[in-house]
Amino acid sequence: MSTLEARAVTKIYHANGADVRAVDTVTFHVAAGEFVALVGPSGSGKTTMLALLAGLLQPDTGEVLVREQSLGTMRKADLTAFRLNHIGFTFQANNLVPYLTVRENVELMLRLNGTRNQQSRARATELLVRLGLDGRLDNLPSQLSGGQQQRVAIARALVHEPDIVLADEPTASLDTERAYQVVATMAGLIHEQGRAGIMVSHDPRMCIYADRIFQMEDGRLVRVLSARAEIEAFAHGLRPTPQQDAPAKPHERSMEPVPTP
Ligand SMILES: Nc1ncnc2c1ncn2[C@@H]1O[C@H](COP(=O)(O)OP(=O)(O)OP(=O)(O)O)[C@@H](O)[C@H]1O
Ligand SMILES: [Mg+2]
Repeated sequence: MSTLEARAVTKIYHANGADVRAVDTVTFHVAAGEFVALVGPSGSGKTTMLALLAGLLQPDTGEVLVREQSLGTMRKADLTAFRLNHIGFTFQANNLVPYLTVRENVELMLRLNGTRNQQSRARATELLVRLGLDGRLDNLPSQLSGGQQQRVAIARALVHEPDIVLADEPTASLDTERAYQVVATMAGLIHEQGRAGIMVSHDPRMCIYADRIFQMEDGRLVRVLSARAEIEAFAHGLRPTPQQDAPAKPHERSMEPVPTP
């Protein structure tokens, strides 16, 4: 079953008299249990694509389907409820609530969708610990580093066990080792729990955990990498594309140690 689907989705922004085709006729499926990395140059439409998938923006043409339900046909109130139950996301900015503690920020997501029991509180704590935030549970966001705040935002996106996980640059302010850990954790949860996940990342190394890589350019989905060898080559900076097919010898690459997920 396709959990997440874009059908010829186009989004045009109108700014200062000019039209920007931020997302241009994009079509794809993401299945349950699949983790996709969405990559592309700055301004290629990645954040806009995630906002369309989350139903935060309406496409000009085409449609987005989550669990085979078209978001465009839902009433606003239904869409809000649907999003709370089925979609988890982290934005480029963390958007943590400044006067709530780490634990409360994550539990907030459970409260919003009506889950309040002891078990779900335990789940929030377990997830925060898994993301390396034990000892920080009762701190306010202002008492955390940028990378720690980002991990809280990731916990908040996952805690209500959404079918769809959308993460926009979740590792942007993490050091390499921590970034690997966070993406490995996210990929592990998506695989174990059968979620469909899309992560935007500027760091190709983080794509090592992806099942497929979607490459965007100028609003278009120009390439999909799905073979394991292609994904590994991309993550190691070799980018086996028709334009740049330059196989490097292993000793010429600079590679970070990759922990096995
Ligand atoms: N609200 C907006 N109004 C007008 N144009 C916008 C708006 N948001 C984004 N754009 C334009 O749409 C295009 C795609 O933007 P988007 O934020 O989706 O790119 P991105 O791939 O996420 O980039 P980055 O890697 O820098 O985050 C860009 O040309 C951007 O300037
Ligand atoms: Mg962006």
